[in-house]
Amino acid sequence: MCGIVGYIGKREAAPLLLAGLHRLEYRGYDSAGIALQNGGMPYLKQKGSVGDLQKTYEASPAKMLGATIGIGHTRWATHGDPSDRNSHPHLNADGDIAIIHNGIIENYSLVKQELQAEGYVFQSDTDSEVLVQLIDRIWKSDASLSLEAVVRAALRHVEGAYGLCAISLRDPGKIVVARKGSPLVIGIGEGEYFIASDAAPIVEHTNRVVYLSDGEMAVITRSGYQVRTIENVAMEKDVVELDFSLEKIEKGGYEHFMLKEIFEQPAVMHDVMRGRVRSDEGRVVLGGIEDYLDRLKQAKRIVICACGTSWHAGLIGEYLIEDFARIPVEVDYASEFRYRNPIIGPDDVVIVISQSGETADTLAALRAAKEKGAMVMGICNVVGSTIARETMCGIYTHAGPEVGVASTKAFTAQVIVLYMLALALSKGRTISHDEMRLSLRELSRVPEHASRILELDRQIQEIAASYKDARNFLYLGRGYNFPVALEGALKLKEISYIHAEGYPAAEMKHGPIALIDEDMPVVVIATRDSSYNKILSNIEEVRSRKGRVIAIASEGDAEVARLADHVIYIPQASAQIMPLLTVIPLQLLSYHIATLRGCNVDRPRNLAKSVTVE
Ligand code: F6R
Repeated sequence: MCGIVGYIGKREAAPLLLAGLHRLEYRGYDSAGIALQNGGMPYLKQKGSVGDLQKTYEASPAKMLGATIGIGHTRWATHGDPSDRNSHPHLNADGDIAIIHNGIIENYSLVKQELQAEGYVFQSDTDSEVLVQLIDRIWKSDASLSLEAVVRAALRHVEGAYGLCAISLRDPGKIVVARKGSPLVIGIGEGEYFIASDAAPIVEHTNRVVYLSDGEMAVITRSGYQVRTIENVAMEKDVVELDFSLEKIEKGGYEHFMLKEIFEQPAVMHDVMRGRVRSDEGRVVLGGIEDYLDRLKQAKRIVICACGTSWHAGLIGEYLIEDFARIPVEVDYASEFRYRNPIIGPDDVVIVISQSGETADTLAALRAAKEKGAMVMGICNVVGSTIARETMCGIYTHAGPEVGVASTKAFTAQVIVLYMLALALSKGRTISHDEMRLSLRELSRVPEHASRILELDRQIQEIAASYKDARNFLYLGRGYNFPVALEGALKLKEISYIHAEGYPAAEMKHGPIALIDEDMPVVVIATRDSSYNKILSNIEEVRSRKGRVIAIASEGDAEVARLADHVIYIPQASAQIMPLLTVIPLQLLSYHIATLRGCNVDRPRNLAKSVTVE
């Protein structure tokens, strides 16, 4: 895995493919490559950035000239280290078939041994290479077959996941693509077609796209495209209009996408609520679940499955739904849920949360829950993503494309959706009309509060400068702010590579307190709520062991200022609203610490934006 682009049309393919790969850089990768078709099959692939690949191309573009068909890939190493030879595309020994592949071929080792026994020599350590060698073998046994026929036959031999593109000089003038578990989109232009693993590289050329579903293949020529199942049954696909613009995926004057996305949050919060929050009427309108609301309200239990930051949003969802709607909620890592034979049945509702809508573990949890007869609902950001399409109903977060690998605006959007959902589930059951109106009014004020918190950016940058060389960090919070402590620690570790842990503050005395000394900065979320006094005691415990404290506190709180080394004051709100506010300074703190350490915050090492493999 990680990113796929393809082009077939009348224009020079190489510059288009390189531009497309640049658009996919946000997904995280370690190497990149392209293969083209003109009289021959020139290719370039190397470890390093798309910028490096572009320089190699510009140093000798001549051999790529005249190619109006090509495929390109950014790789995120799974099988085989990041290196030139493990980069995609992979070619057969004759150099007349090229493939790029996202996903993992699970039985590759067996297939490789079979092929090696027949004399095939492998050039890489990847699982993906078996695909091109298999295609070669099948074609050698029957030269009359088309490219699509040999790809189809090869796919029957393999187990696992794929987003695959293939081109060949033996059957030129076409790109064959196939999907199982790894997304592929076809962009439809005028006499030209674009292929990509998400819409980002396509949107500047066309907003008309076809999303392939699992088990589908397409043959794309300059004059059209044909979609069939892997079993070779013809099918009609709907053409969908993309609704996001290029401007939305560009940096808009910010140094990094992550910073832009942190600052976009007040606007995103408005977008999430637009048309849905009707404070005066005391109701929430959630079109995507309207027909299922009664069934949701009758759920015996709700199970939330997600990964990473989305899992943290799920934890806040648990507090919100139990608090407002009094329905029991469990939150599970999607990766654990899918393998632990969970007790789930038709009376349960499973909510999957995913920014990308493509996370392999979350998708597998969704499918497992469906198989067991549960009602499955989605909370997704990417419109038309696999999870969005496979859930029975759902709510889009409308956060717009999130490019920075570290999730920020998608998280706050997910929490707002969960807040709205909790209120929708409470209506007519567990809260009065007046409480509903008050809760919605509070939610409507969140964008304004968020804007005020963003004004603290300079202060937070100064605090970051004092701690940029720390080697460890501890984050503490209680109640609604406990998942925020987890999220703050995750943000810091993933972009600054500082070890950080989040804990419920009261748990500190059961272990982590042993770590506290003058070299251990502790971020404590100490806003005024029912556990405020207890969290002050936790700060005292840290202080008496010489730990340095950065506190997030409610405006006007002098007591915290007396105890902490630094205080970041945020507007006071109810406990249920707080995570939406307390997370913002933590996002900024991580961002500034990481940039001061010289880290690439938009593309942290070893991380991918969308984890479409297990
Ligand atoms: C952290 C982050 C990841 C994702 C996780 C799930 O900043 O971005 O932890 O939250 O990989 O991704 P989605 O939400 O796309 O399913």
